[in-house]
Amino acid sequence: MGFQSLKDVLKEQLEDLYSAETQLTTALPKLEQAASNDELKKAFKEHLEETRGHVKRVEEALGELGVTSPTEECKGMKGLIAEGEEIIEMQGDATAKDAALIAAAQRVEHYEIAAYGTVRQLADDCGLDGVRDLMDQTLDEESNADKLLTKIATGGMFKAGLNRQATS
Ligand SMILES: [Fe+2]
Repeated sequence: MGFQSLKDVLKEQLEDLYSAETQLTTALPKLEQAASNDELKKAFKEHLEETRGHVKRVEEALGELGVTSPTEECKGMKGLIAEGEEIIEMQGDATAKDAALIAAAQRVEHYEIAAYGTVRQLADDCGLDGVRDLMDQTLDEESNADKLLTKIATGGMFKAGLNRQATS
């Protein structure tokens, strides 16, 4: 087997993304529950809704390529989620923990942004404009989610919220 064409690479990348997004739909509610800041909780909740849409878009793209039952497991996302879960289980200052949750979530977003940048380009190269446009929509949402996390992290809440012990 192996890769015979760019389309094969696209299929493999999409299968991996399908696994990544599906794993995220179970991880995001845990992040939401672990967060203390209202804005951060809301960001995780809203991104869960978007992520459900991302799963559907990847499914649609796979359908275009004739893949009906993707079997790949995204080990990268599995590792990122495992790291996030370590943070979820940690005790301590609520605001410091929120900062760590944002750090974990931004690693996830950047991982996805890299993957969607690749698949949108592969789809374009293969002349699959519909798939490219679908992936572009998701890429935009991932970028916006990342920017929102940056905004929350840099909005001053950490300086105001951290206790003396956590800042020293
Ligand atoms: Fe996503």
